[in-house]
Amino acid sequence: MKPREIKRGIYFVGAVDWDRRLFDSLIPLPDGTSYNSYLIKGSEKTALIDTVDPTMEPVLVNHLDELKVKNIDYVIANHAEQDHSGSIPRVLEKYPEAKLVCTPRCKGMLIDLLLVAEDRFITVEDKETISLGNRTIEFIHAPWVHWPETMLTYLREDKILFPCDFFGSHLATSNLYVTDEGQVYEAAKRYYAEIMMPFRTNIQKNLEKIKDYPIDIIAPSHGPMYDKPEFIIKAYRDWAFGEPKNIVILPYISMHGSTRRMVAYFVEALAQRGVTVKQFDLTVTDLGKLAMSLVDAATIVIGTPTVLAGPHPGAVYAAYLANAIRANVKFASIIGSYGWGGKTVEQLVAMIPNLKVELLPTVIIKGYPREADFGALDNLAETIAQKHKEQGFV
Ligand code: FEO
Repeated sequence: MKPREIKRGIYFVGAVDWDRRLFDSLIPLPDGTSYNSYLIKGSEKTALIDTVDPTMEPVLVNHLDELKVKNIDYVIANHAEQDHSGSIPRVLEKYPEAKLVCTPRCKGMLIDLLLVAEDRFITVEDKETISLGNRTIEFIHAPWVHWPETMLTYLREDKILFPCDFFGSHLATSNLYVTDEGQVYEAAKRYYAEIMMPFRTNIQKNLEKIKDYPIDIIAPSHGPMYDKPEFIIKAYRDWAFGEPKNIVILPYISMHGSTRRMVAYFVEALAQRGVTVKQFDLTVTDLGKLAMSLVDAATIVIGTPTVLAGPHPGAVYAAYLANAIRANVKFASIIGSYGWGGKTVEQLVAMIPNLKVELLPTVIIKGYPREADFGALDNLAETIAQKHKEQGFV
C-alpha cells in the first residue's frame, strides 16, 4: 500500500500487517493488524508520529522515500512498545537531525529497549506544545494506556487526535477510515478487553481528560481511523464506565462428559430465568473472544473437572486471564465434577484476587450429575438471576 494523504500535508505512512496472527506471542489476531505512522508537514517543520513494528520497517522507509521526505525535525514517540517504537533507530539514522520527542518516562524506556542515544531526545511535559509553523502539536500525558509512559498527540489546527493504542483495533484493512462500524466495534472491544481493561480507572481518567478537546479525526496506531470519533468515544465510555449487564460468562472444559452435562443443564437453567449466557469450550475457544465477553458481564462461572487434585489447566488459564485483565464481574462461581477428591475450588479461588467478586455457592459433584446435582445448578441459576436483578443489571 502507498502512503495515503489524510489532509494536505498529513499522510498515513504506516504498514498493514494482514498475516500476523499472534501479538506479544500471546494475543490472537484473527484479522491481522496495522502499525499506523503519520507524517505531518508544517510550514517550517516536519514531524513523524510513531513508527512501525520492526518487521515492517522497510514499508515505512519506502513511504518516506516515495514522499521525498528529505528532513524530519521531530519523531514523536507516543508509546515505547516496540510495535510503534521499533523502527525509531532506523528513522533516527536516516534523519540525523531529527529529535525524538516523548515523555520523560518514555525516554528512559526507549533508552532501555532500543538503546537510543541520550542526546537525541526532547522530553515534553503534559500540555506542552511544539510548533511546526502553521501547525501546532500538543502533547497530552496519558499514563497507563496501557504502559506508564504513554502520551497522546493532538494536532490543534486540524483537530486530529493521535492516541496510539488508545481507541485502536487489531484490524488489517485497506480502508483509511472506518467503513463497517460493526466490524470495528468488535475488533476495538476485543482490543479494549485485552489491552486496556486492566487499567480501567486510568482509561476513565484519560477519557475525561480529552473530553473537551474538539476532535474531527481520531488516528490511532492500530486499525482504521475514525472520521466520526463519537462512535469510538461512546463505545469506550460504555466499556470503561458502564455497569455490568445481565450476562454470565461460562468458560468450561470437560474430560469425560460430566462437566459438559452440567454446563448444558446450567445454561438452560439460566436462560429460563432470563439471564444471557455465553459458554466457551476452552479446548477450542479463541481466548480473545472470551476476554471480550468479560467486558460487560456481571458473573463468571468456571466449569472444570478435577484433574491431579486440582482444576484442569484449561480452567486455570481462563481464571488467570480473567484475573489478569481485571474483568469487571461482580459474582463468581465454579461448577464441575471430580472422581475421588481434590482442591479445585480452593485453587481456582486463590487465582482471582483481582476480581472484586462475591463468591456464590459452587456446585462440585462426584461423577456424573444426578437429580440432586441438577437441583443445585437450578439453585445457583436462581441465585444469579436474583443477584443480577437486585443490582439492576439488565
Ligand atoms: Fe500497540 Fe502497546 O503497543
